[in-house]
Amino acid sequence: KIYHDEDTDITIVQSKVVSFIGYGNQGRAQALNLRDSGVNNIVIGNIDDDYAKQAREDGFSPVSIEEAARQGDILMLLIPDEDQQTVWNEKIRGNIKPNSTLVVASGYNVAFNLLTIPDDMDVVMVAPRMIGAGVRDRYVQHIPYPCFVSVEKDPSGTALATCLSIASAIGATRGNGAVGSSCREEAGIDLFAEQALWPEIMAIFREGFNVLREAGFSEEAILFDMYLSKEPAEIFERAADEGFVKQLKYHSRTSQYGQLSTMNRHDGKDIREKFHHILHDNILSGKFAEKWSNTKWAAEELAKEWKEVENAPIVQADERVRDVIKPDRKK
Ligand code: NAI
Repeated sequence: KIYHDEDTDITIVQSKVVSFIGYGNQGRAQALNLRDSGVNNIVIGNIDDDYAKQAREDGFSPVSIEEAARQGDILMLLIPDEDQQTVWNEKIRGNIKPNSTLVVASGYNVAFNLLTIPDDMDVVMVAPRMIGAGVRDRYVQHIPYPCFVSVEKDPSGTALATCLSIASAIGATRGNGAVGSSCREEAGIDLFAEQALWPEIMAIFREGFNVLREAGFSEEAILFDMYLSKEPAEIFERAADEGFVKQLKYHSRTSQYGQLSTMNRHDGKDIREKFHHILHDNILSGKFAEKWSNTKWAAEELAKEWKEVENAPIVQADERVRDVIKPDRKK
């Protein structure tokens, strides 16, 4: 289901106290958009840091997270996903106003039940598929941007109307409209891309490099051909603009034949089984979310992975080649 401006009633959010928990990438962009959409009762709840300073410079008067939770009819939970559970338990949960609405911008913490939600609280998702600066710039320039919306809990019976009102006030229902989804779907696809799709693509580049290097080809030539030329970025841009396979028309006939004949014969069985396991056993089961909530463990594991990748031949070659050709040097 796609929701457009005409499905929304902006006066709903205009009549509420909207509390932002967090004034970062999304928090700042969405608060400024709401204010410009005629939402006058905005409360910024933030710890005393540079983000609070920014909020003051933008004309808001930040209060503590506890105070923002007490005042808000609508709570926009816009701090990093990995901090949400702790901040919810320590600062928000005990201060929530009765019959209020929780709005999340990513499905993660709701999908994996990491937040204990009061029975009378509506829970909705308004998840821009866009960095915060893009959410603000596009709002100002009247350019549409993609966004997922969903209703997760609806004790009031009016959660959808509230959700769409907020989406409309941040400019997310313009143009092609906001896409109906769910926290489970949004978090599932996001984590799948992070844990299955992109690592597989990176491993393919790594192995491509290893095979070509073993054949005696130069590191510079291989890396230029693989990504330093930025050709993959161009291919994906064309794929988005014109079609996943239709972009092949920009390649030579030899290249088209090579790509199509190999891909059409690729049965993908091993990858499918691996992806199936990652999606179901690791992601949707909640196993990953449970592990990742242990912030000490998460920080140690991430540091270990960074250390290990430094030794990969493609990473060392990248450093050597980059040092010589300085591809990011601006002419
Ligand atoms: P961010 O990293 O910009 O968040 C910074 C804000 O969080 C600041 O207000 C800071 O004071 C506060 N904060 C950080 N650690 C805290 C702590 N321990 N206790 C209390 N406050 C703390 O966050 P961002 O990127 O805006 O993400 C917010 C939400 O939006 C997340 O759910 C994210 O998944 C989602 N989202 C982010 C997008 C992006 O492009 N950044 C795109 C779409 C959704």
